[in-house]
Amino acid sequence: MRTPLIAGNWKLFKTISEATAFVTALKPLVAEVQGVEVVISPVFTALSSVAAAAAGSRIRVAAQDCYWEEEGAFTGEVAPGLLKDAGCSHVIIGHSERRQYFGETDETANRKTRAALATGLTVLLCVGETLVQREAGDTFTVIESQITGGLQSLVAEELKQVVIAYEPVWAIGTGKTASDEQAQQVHAFIRQLVAKLYSQADADQILILYGGSVKPENVKGLMSQPDIDGALVGGASLKADSFAAIVRFNS
Ligand code: PGA
Repeated sequence: MRTPLIAGNWKLFKTISEATAFVTALKPLVAEVQGVEVVISPVFTALSSVAAAAAGSRIRVAAQDCYWEEEGAFTGEVAPGLLKDAGCSHVIIGHSERRQYFGETDETANRKTRAALATGLTVLLCVGETLVQREAGDTFTVIESQITGGLQSLVAEELKQVVIAYEPVWAIGTGKTASDEQAQQVHAFIRQLVAKLYSQADADQILILYGGSVKPENVKGLMSQPDIDGALVGGASLKADSFAAIVRFNS
């Protein structure tokens, strides 16, 4: 009932020409895949070229962040409406790198989420504990406060346009994936939390992606877990063949 979503997060990689060449290479590799949504997120400067290159294919485009105001004297910021204008359907919000290096908090992630939803973008809201938090036994408390904070004041109708990405910080870019069971445990917790905050029906429909060193070799095991609905992929999304292999996890 939930259509799996595989999203690539390119972070600060790829020029416009590299990004559009990737789309040209990816299109035929994923054209036949059934029942999987495919999203890629280039840097801001490549968004409109990538969206143009992906037009008419199943590939959707996400930005990696946004601001919460639509316009004004906010030097350096990019508004959700401008992302739509550039051809985005999705936006990643609250990525742990934004939290770690750029002062993102649950409150700013929530403001961005509300603004993006108001514009009609689908939000990929990222949460995840650090190694210190996991080792201190705080994983569920951290996840609960990030989710509660990130979804603050959203109504059930808005939640339909939200995808949650669970990305344990200790697994991002480290080559250390959470085990299938570790990931499933947190995903199940998140789904129960959504049921508590909204309803069981809302919890049943929300997509919860796993992120953190997802590769062609480990995606199948992760995707076989009942509460893992897709993946947010960093490093392994930078090459069209490895990203396509992840999209084709079922074949
Ligand atoms: P990784 O990154 O796949 O390179 O670990 C995931 C992410 O940061 O979204």
